[in-house]
Amino acid sequence: MMKKINHLGIAVKDLDAQIAIYRDQLGMQFEGTEEVPSQLVKVAFFSVGESRVELLMPTSPESPIAKYLETNREGLHHVAYEVEDIRAAMAACKAQGLRLLSEEPKPGAHHTLVCFLHPKSTGGVLTELVEPAKH
Ligand code: CO
Repeated sequence: MMKKINHLGIAVKDLDAQIAIYRDQLGMQFEGTEEVPSQLVKVAFFSVGESRVELLMPTSPESPIAKYLETNREGLHHVAYEVEDIRAAMAACKAQGLRLLSEEPKPGAHHTLVCFLHPKSTGGVLTELVEPAKH
């Protein structure tokens, strides 16, 4: 079901400062930024081989990332696995007793469809399922 790690999500407070670190100091390939209204975040992507690093900065105090940063340090926030068919993957996870954070897929960055699994279901790691945009 899981094809590869699509991206690692890292929660940050200052997107520009972290972009400078990843792009200029780590020398990673910067792919640009995008606002994701469904999650109230602005994201910056860096490609790493077949995967990406996604820096997430809240755009509103209501953002899940803002709430996360109230009680956690900046850092690794979620692991996103790529799936072929997100609805089938969600149904399979549900059938296995895993807790989904939404009943329907939500629009993610780059025209993807995404769904999160509750970290209590997945060993303490917030887990995202991602179906890439169909070309
Ligand atoms: Co993500």
